[in-house]
Amino acid sequence: MSTVFDINSLARENVRKLVPYMSARRLGGHGDIWLNANEYPIAPNFQLTENTLNRYPECQPATVIQRYADYADLQPEQILVSRGADESIELLIRVFCEPGRDAVLFCPPTYGMYSVSAETFGIEQKKIPAGIDWQPDIAAIKNNLDRVKLIYICSPNNPTGNLIDPAALHQILELTRNRAIVAIDEAYIEFCPQHATTHATTRWLQDYPHLVILRTLSKAFALAGLRCGFTLASADIIALMLKVITPYPLATPIADIAAQALTETGIQTMRNRVKEIVSNRAYLQQALSKLALVENVFPSETNYILVKFINAEFVFKTLWEQGIILRDQSKQPGLENCLRITIGSRNECEQLVSAISALSSQTQQIKETENP
Ligand SMILES: Cc1ncc(COP(=O)(O)O)c(C=O)c1O
Repeated sequence: MSTVFDINSLARENVRKLVPYMSARRLGGHGDIWLNANEYPIAPNFQLTENTLNRYPECQPATVIQRYADYADLQPEQILVSRGADESIELLIRVFCEPGRDAVLFCPPTYGMYSVSAETFGIEQKKIPAGIDWQPDIAAIKNNLDRVKLIYICSPNNPTGNLIDPAALHQILELTRNRAIVAIDEAYIEFCPQHATTHATTRWLQDYPHLVILRTLSKAFALAGLRCGFTLASADIIALMLKVITPYPLATPIADIAAQALTETGIQTMRNRVKEIVSNRAYLQQALSKLALVENVFPSETNYILVKFINAEFVFKTLWEQGIILRDQSKQPGLENCLRITIGSRNECEQLVSAISALSSQTQQIKETENP
């Protein structure tokens, strides 16, 4: 009998070694309260209006592109629509990075897909730890630009929740002029509307031809299940990305719903949703900061908060068993004992507070019995 051939031996070496991104769905769990994927807690209601499923869809559905261009106050040539912002993260690597020669740079703790996408394509990664208050360490970035073709900056940053200082963004854009692409990942930007108005990075596109902005309908638009994201950049960068994107990245029903979400009414609904989440966030931050098990509740400009606990593993596991699913961030550099908590409905926030509050009083009682 011939020996069994190991098909893995045919796979590219970096794919064999690759640890895939552990999305909230892959991590599983049995919950009633899902606070681990920064989703909106209630499903929005849409009806399909486009039934021509016998035909292939447009590669870049014109209505969706036009409506996003209006929303972002840009020209349609400056917009690309893709299967979530995640696809765009990967397209940028495919367009700009040569394996074995170029590198990408990002600043942990940050969103995990920059690393996974670079790893998949065998691109060197330069990880420059974030500095004070999780702002980019400009000096360290400056000293590590050799071979760097692409920089990902997440603002507001996932999982820490902070915006990146516009002055730091300008410094990075100046350092990289004529040598690298800077992709600012603004998946959560709608949750800080004031900032988005005063410092709108979209307006910087005219001064920085190497700037790329990533957006999504997954967060404030409450459409994570739709898988629809946007890239905003110069017409030249969009044209390059269109060379490598799949022929039909957006299914007809997705384009149909995305177009509806981007009408004036859709945008107003999104803005109302943001107000509700921001108010729930303030409630949750206040309530959690009073609890004995909580060491620190970090400020947030997003639909989640990062919380440092006395013992995060204990809180995470106990709540998991109770069907309240949070996201453990304690393995990320500098985030020991930190959990990331999505802002759910007010009722979900209240249930979470009472669950952690009950744990806090139990812990207090144990301590008192041990040290009367
Ligand atoms: C910072 C950041 N960028 C991008 C994404 C991916 O967005 P999409 O759902 O559009 O692929 C996420 C998803 O959680 C995210 O947190």
